[in-house]
Amino acid sequence: MATSPEALASVSTLDCSGKTALITGSTNGIGRAAALALGRLGADVIVHGRDPDAGAAVVASLSEVGTDATFVAADFTDPDAVRRLAEATRSWTDGLDLLLNNAGGLFQEKRLVGPGVELTFHVNHLAPYLLTAHLLDHLREGARVVTTASEAHRGATLSLDRLRDGGGRAGMAAYSHSKLANILFANELGRRLHAAERTVTSNSVHPGFVPGSQFGRFLPGPLAGLFRLLGVVPGTSSVADGAAELLYVALSPDTENATGQYFTGQQPAAPTEAARDREAATRLWTQSAAMLGIDEPLAHVLAKPGAASD
Ligand SMILES: NC(=O)c1ccc[n+]([C@@H]2O[C@H](COP(=O)([O-])OP(=O)(O)OC[C@H]3O[C@@H](n4cnc5c(N)ncnc54)[C@H](OP(=O)(O)O)[C@@H]3O)[C@@H](O)[C@H]2O)c1
Repeated sequence: MATSPEALASVSTLDCSGKTALITGSTNGIGRAAALALGRLGADVIVHGRDPDAGAAVVASLSEVGTDATFVAADFTDPDAVRRLAEATRSWTDGLDLLLNNAGGLFQEKRLVGPGVELTFHVNHLAPYLLTAHLLDHLREGARVVTTASEAHRGATLSLDRLRDGGGRAGMAAYSHSKLANILFANELGRRLHAAERTVTSNSVHPGFVPGSQFGRFLPGPLAGLFRLLGVVPGTSSVADGAAELLYVALSPDTENATGQYFTGQQPAAPTEAARDREAATRLWTQSAAMLGIDEPLAHVLAKPGAASD
């Protein structure tokens, strides 16, 4: 039998009963494996994605192990759907202990969605930003927010003057740009939560190169099949390995106090200079709120002397 994600993350003896987790993008791939592992550890789980059949199947598997679980469909190209997911979460549970911002993909399509924002940037960055903003006051003290980023951020620089159209990028370039935004977002969230004297942490994680997920389905024609075939190449990660990377940051006692960090291979790692640029992270945060037409989340903490400086 294949090793479980919880064993791979050395968290299989943890008891997560009484905890509630929302895992976006848990109808498939890495998120699905992480959701099932959290259910086996006793957590209540909110499953999210677009595909209702896949969502129902994950909920059924979670119910089989005695987990309280529900599925909420929300297409992350639509900010109103993201808001409804936040509302459904608030009504389903009194508070969240784990928010895993994992939904995302490498999309070939180039179009503007929601408030006129490039699709990949919207799905991969703006939607989790909005979801997190709507759930900040629903996160229990000690909660952990984990955002699935990628080593694909390397090589990207943030187009702060053209966030709305993603700097004109598409495909892989748009994906890398959005994954850079994920790391900057997670870091800035960590800093602001700390400045607000919340005990909630925020980190980002690269799950490894995981050809066995459904990630390659959005690649053009033969590339999708080729991507899946790469699963047999030594050095690539399985879906369970990818889920273990998330679980390590979300649950391990080793990462309990980590915040504003980027992890890969179950280790803290240095992302690129562009991903460590605090000024860019702050501007991304402010501009993301403006693009969505919402008040800047945790804006007040920056007014405090010395806030967000450590
Ligand atoms: N696979 C890799 O090699 C790799 C490497 C680095 C980082 N990552 C990151 O890992 C995360 C999970 O990817 P994966 O490999 O597990 O891919 P996956 O198998 O394709 O799963 C992606 C999940 O995101 C959801 N999703 C995609 N587009 C969405 C949208 N517009 N609205 C709402 N949900 C949406 C999917 O829901 P439906 O299926 O229901 O549509 C699915 O549950 C992503 O953030 C990806 O960027 C993956």
